[in-house]
Amino acid sequence: MFKVYLALSFFLGLLLLAQARGNDKKIKFYQLKKGNMHLNLTNYGATIVSVIVPDKHGKLADITLGYDDIEQYKTDGWYFGATVGRVANRIGNAQFTLDGHTYKLPANDHGNTLHGGFKGFSDVVWTVESHKEDSHITFTYDSHDHEQDFPGRLEVSVTYMLIGTNEYAVKMTARPVDKPTPVNLAHHTYWNLRGHNSGDILSHQVQIFGSKITPVDKKLIPTGKFESVKGTPYDFLEPREVGSRINDLAGLYDINYVLDGSSSQHFRKVVMVRDNVSGRKLELWSNQVGLQFYSGGMLNATKGKDGAIYHKHGGMALETQGFPDSVNHPNFPSQIVYPGETYKHYMVYRFSAS
Ligand SMILES: *[C@@H]1O[C@H](CO)[C@@H](O)[C@H](O)[C@H]1NC(C)=O
Ligand SMILES: *[C@@H]1O[C@H](CO)[C@@H](O)[C@H](O)[C@H]1NC(C)=O
Ligand SMILES: *[C@@H]1O[C@H](CO)[C@@H](O)[C@H](O)[C@H]1NC(C)=O
Repeated sequence: MFKVYLALSFFLGLLLLAQARGNDKKIKFYQLKKGNMHLNLTNYGATIVSVIVPDKHGKLADITLGYDDIEQYKTDGWYFGATVGRVANRIGNAQFTLDGHTYKLPANDHGNTLHGGFKGFSDVVWTVESHKEDSHITFTYDSHDHEQDFPGRLEVSVTYMLIGTNEYAVKMTARPVDKPTPVNLAHHTYWNLRGHNSGDILSHQVQIFGSKITPVDKKLIPTGKFESVKGTPYDFLEPREVGSRINDLAGLYDINYVLDGSSSQHFRKVVMVRDNVSGRKLELWSNQVGLQFYSGGMLNATKGKDGAIYHKHGGMALETQGFPDSVNHPNFPSQIVYPGETYKHYMVYRFSAS
């Protein structure tokens, strides 16, 4: 009798384990709600699907660009709302050298590596480690050695946490298991504070607390220099409309800012965006050294949620991260993380309206 019981419980255990594993790999949507704020997320790419917050009249709107179904996320070329890695942004010539070994990476962007390669962290199914609708969700991903040709196994975790009225935090961590590896995670939400389906963001006011940029060559790889924004169209030290000087550039912003106070890497406000029609304001705090400001200038009749069509500058991305191509620029802050160390990236998003 005891033997039968043992065999039975063993079998049941296996069954439960198999079921838990199976469930882990299912792609689903998950909600976080507190007061009037509502976040919709998916474990595909640890992605934010929507963020709903009130305007100055209390009217709710979804202010992030995204899709209606997972199939669109799978073929997405815009990284809407996704967690990007193992190395966000560009790596020049799709290679780097670490400890005397040269690693060749997937060249998915004009001979460079962009956002972790052909199938980066934005295109894998994450495990839901824990979820409580009025509190937080934690996604984890175990990246294997040589995944997209990066060295070593990497354990990654992303937590979205509701922390106040219309306020949430994101905590990203990554731990190399066996080899040193570059790590640069970024969050790739596109914002349109008037509503995701309300035209362009050119009249949004932006303030970026970064006095310098890392200028790039024709293939969008940093030259390695730092340039002051003073007197240039990149100067957002005081709040200014996105569109006010955009025509002095190639008609879009896609550049990395060196955030002020970078050397200390302390947690500080890095960017503010305001739309004076809805009255919505977004303030973003982070501990990162850089901010990629992308004004969405390449969007081109992309079919989005609820029948929306996202045109040029339909939303802007504000990606806190390390500097692009850091692995090939010894004068940039290093992105190499060693076994025993933990990469940590924090963000706080605070919304208000007046
Ligand atoms: C979450 O987003 C997906 C994709 O857009 C949508 O199908 C689903 O209805 C949303 N869930 C909620 C509760 O809003
Ligand atoms: C919004 O701000 C612009 C200047 O940036 C101003 O011209 C416009 O009148 C303002 N609109 C509202 C509704 O406050
Ligand atoms: C994207 O823009 C190009 C012009 O730059 C145009 O020819 C093309 O039709 C556009 N694609 C879509 C899907 O509208």
